[in-house]
Amino acid sequence: MPLRYFDGTTHGEVLSRITNDVDTINQTLNQSMTQIVTSVVTMIGVLVMMFSISWLLTVVTLIILPLSVVFISIIVKNSQKYFKQQQEYLGHVNGHVEEMYGSHVVMKAFNGEQRSVEKFDQSNNVLYKAAWKSQFLSGMMMPIMTFIGNLGYVVVCILGGYLAVRNAITVGDIQAFIQYVRSFTQPITQIANISNTLQQTAAAAERVFEFLNEAEENPETTKPVKLTTVQGSVEFKDVHFGYSPEKIIINDFCATVKPGQKIAIVGPTGAGKTTMVKLLMRFYDINSGSILVDGHNIKEFSRQDLRQMFGMVLQDAWLYNTTIMENIRYGRLDASDEDVISAAKIAYVDHFIRTLPDGYNMVLDEEASNVSQGQKQLLTIARAILADPRILILDEATSSVDTRTEVLIQKAMDNLMKNRTSFIIAHRLSTIRNADLILVMNNGDIVEQGTHKELLARNGFYSSLYNSQFETTEVF
Ligand SMILES: Nc1ncnc2c1ncn2[C@@H]1O[C@H](COP(=O)(O)OP(=O)(O)OP(=O)(O)O)[C@@H](O)[C@H]1O
Ligand SMILES: [Mg+2]
Repeated sequence: MPLRYFDGTTHGEVLSRITNDVDTINQTLNQSMTQIVTSVVTMIGVLVMMFSISWLLTVVTLIILPLSVVFISIIVKNSQKYFKQQQEYLGHVNGHVEEMYGSHVVMKAFNGEQRSVEKFDQSNNVLYKAAWKSQFLSGMMMPIMTFIGNLGYVVVCILGGYLAVRNAITVGDIQAFIQYVRSFTQPITQIANISNTLQQTAAAAERVFEFLNEAEENPETTKPVKLTTVQGSVEFKDVHFGYSPEKIIINDFCATVKPGQKIAIVGPTGAGKTTMVKLLMRFYDINSGSILVDGHNIKEFSRQDLRQMFGMVLQDAWLYNTTIMENIRYGRLDASDEDVISAAKIAYVDHFIRTLPDGYNMVLDEEASNVSQGQKQLLTIARAILADPRILILDEATSSVDTRTEVLIQKAMDNLMKNRTSFIIAHRLSTIRNADLILVMNNGDIVEQGTHKELLARNGFYSSLYNSQFETTEVF
């Protein structure tokens, strides 16, 4: 599925669909289905026996069938909406809980407990009401069915008595028949009872199929291009893109990057820098225009091959709930421990890791909150270094690292990325002065491009950005 879908849906909602809803279907298939089969087979067998005793009594007994169907359908019709609501709000409650746990600190910092509890109560109340109504209605199924079944007894007794008096049937037959009527109504009651589960399953299945029906990621090309060596030239041609069709964010982005160049992308917040990077990695497909890597449209590569060429360090560090060693190794799964350690050394985290109680074997917790922000960034840089990509993308990769370490990392990076293309996105403009090409973005367009000197000489947007960083703080 495209990232677009996950942008617009809470994690809890997605989780609820693939855990609660799938689980409900799973249980039905496991338990209720066998019960249904048993019930239907029993009913058929009993029916045959009843006909063999007296066809008249059997036909009369069968009147309870349409009666049951009417009652079951009335109940099902009324309770189905509550079952649907129940599954839906189960998803909402899950989404809320997951969101609040995900941003626990933020919620606490803004005294959000009260609001969070209120919002939870709101959803939970709807869930509670829907759940009891659906359970109540479907709980009525059993007594109603028993009642209808008893009506069947009454009819059999009266009619059987009449037939016995007229010597058309023996009392023993009536006795046997009544036993069969019991065996006949029991599976009906059971099926009615299962319809409760079936209804919930129908609601759950609807949600699962909704999920399955969501627009899928554009399919891969059938004949992907394979490059044996990647030169690393990148060209953007008239790229247009918006996260939603109404709001175009990138208008007419054009740029040419030669192999081995160090490209800096700068610009004010929200200019579309990270978006460009996401487009390059094909996390989103562009609306029109094209992006070429080594002369091939990125759509001609398989996504895996394309992403293999890039190493990326994003603004928000991605780390997993595993050891530091494995977190770094995620860059290249077949890397040896020594490779991991030497990558960590280049990224200047080796020293820090060694001071930890378990060193490289320390387990990061789920939100990686047991290491600092800057340390997280260094770990992700080490990961990108280990991946050893042809094209490296650093999106504000050192924004949380102190300036001295930043300079050291940059030197190491410059060595590492010699003859390789790299894209550096930075707000601290002093760090990208030596870039081969600086693309200055504003509102989704390149407003200026050139080297640091050229851009300063032009005295335009870049120079005002650059100078504003030194106006108030006398760094030099
Ligand atoms: N997933 C998304 N869905 C919808 N709009 C988005 C999404 N991500 C970003 N945007 C919008 O796209 C625009 C460009 O965002 P982008 O992340 O590319 O900015 P940026 O230049 O990287 O900014 P910053 O310097 O703050 O990192 C912004 O207006 C933002 O609101
Ligand atoms: Mg950004």
